[in-house]
Amino acid sequence: MLTVDSPIAMAEWSRRTRSQGNSIAFVPTMGYLHEGHLSLMRAARERGDRVVVSIFVNPLQFGAGEDLETYPRDPAGDAEKCRSVGCDVLFLPSKANMYPKGFQTTVVAGSLAGPLCGASRPGHFDGVVTVVLKLFNVVKPHVAVFGRKDFQQFAVLTRMVRDLDLDVEMVGMPIVREADGLALSSRNAYLSDAERGQALALSRALQAAGADFDAGVRSAARLRDAIRTRIQQQPLARVDYVDVLDAEELDAPSDPISRPVVAAVAVYFGRTRLIDNVLLKP
Ligand code: PAJ
Repeated sequence: MLTVDSPIAMAEWSRRTRSQGNSIAFVPTMGYLHEGHLSLMRAARERGDRVVVSIFVNPLQFGAGEDLETYPRDPAGDAEKCRSVGCDVLFLPSKANMYPKGFQTTVVAGSLAGPLCGASRPGHFDGVVTVVLKLFNVVKPHVAVFGRKDFQQFAVLTRMVRDLDLDVEMVGMPIVREADGLALSSRNAYLSDAERGQALALSRALQAAGADFDAGVRSAARLRDAIRTRIQQQPLARVDYVDVLDAEELDAPSDPISRPVVAAVAVYFGRTRLIDNVLLKP
């Protein structure tokens, strides 16, 4: 596995690889890799001749007071994991390389970035679309693989690809969970034992919403209230948002629900913010 830190060297490798007729599948990450990330790399392995993984903790997508400085890091462990699933290139750009002095041009996400995480993290998705466009321009992938754990992120990025005519196939993969249901996240490392126990309420509440939905509940408000109630039963949980939105446009669904919806939650345990979601299809 090749490790590259300069965007110029990365772009050269990609040009050469493309000119040799090989396809590139790309998995952008912020590191502290877990099985969720590895599932994306395995999917990339199946979809491209060469697999590139990037690790870059993107300052542009963190707000003031968020965990940019403390975001967990494990460079040696990450490299070993990438190697173990057959990545060809690990791209590790520095902040100075990605945002050199004078950097000032950014991409603005549209209305898909309005609700959910966009509402509680202003500017977050502008930072995400900007860095992912830059990474796409450097890595030049044919295919890019993302997790649906960040459901809104995938929607916003897929729309960017469409709106800006990018020639990249977007692949969204299912959420990988612990045996007990907790969605894997680099931020789970922050949780105390007590918080970790109560964090189960997220997946449980969403699962219960799925059961309600399957039993015929078609009111978004009712589904939303039931999820919120279940999560609020945990004394350490502080709900950031609970919402049930049209899965395509991320706006209010019809009442009764007649198209696929996403039930999405963000919940604080102490200073740790966890997200989870489930797609509900009539
Ligand atoms: P990060 O949080 O490291 O996530 C990288 C990719 O892994 C994202 O596509 C995310 O959805 C996926 N992922 C995380 N946990 C997952 C899980 N439990 N199951 C399946 N996939 C999972 O998302 C980012 O980084 C950044 O915003 C990035 C896109 C790299 C831009 O900076």
